[in-house]
Amino acid sequence: MKSIYILLVLFIFFTGCVIKITKQPVNITPITPVSAIKPVEEIKVEPVVIANVQPLDMNTTRAEAGKEIYNAKCGRCHELKNEQDFTVEEWKPIIERMALKAGLDSAGKANITLYINNHAKKE
Ligand code: HEC
Repeated sequence: MKSIYILLVLFIFFTGCVIKITKQPVNITPITPVSAIKPVEEIKVEPVVIANVQPLDMNTTRAEAGKEIYNAKCGRCHELKNEQDFTVEEWKPIIERMALKAGLDSAGKANITLYINNHAKKE
């Protein structure tokens, strides 16, 4: 009689295990076929207007900075000279000399040169 109980317990134990294993839910997400994927609604991108940006913007800004330095520093010891008194070539050694007098750094000198080159006497 006892052995029947033991067999019964063992039976329940094993079938319990088996049932547990077989009843485990297997969640396989069905793969959506490519043809069934709806295309994402077309995104409309407004064209960015960059027409106002000039290619010489950087040099223009630097020349403007040069003009400010010119007005601020080049009239301290003498009258502010007229840019058109000299050609670009004539200005070169003068700027070298005067940059030292005015205590300009290389960037300031470069900016003044850009400004002068735009306004110097035409050759
Ligand atoms: C520290 C005073 C001083 C400053 C600042 C100064 N100058 Fe002069 N500048 C002089 C003197 C002095 C002379 C005359 C002697 C000479 O030519 O070196 C002169 C002469 C000149 C001349 C005539 C040169 C020629 O050959 O006829 C020009 C142009 C001139 N300066 C431009 C400038 C400019 C541009 C700046 C700014 C970057 C400047 N100066 C800043 C003192 C100065």
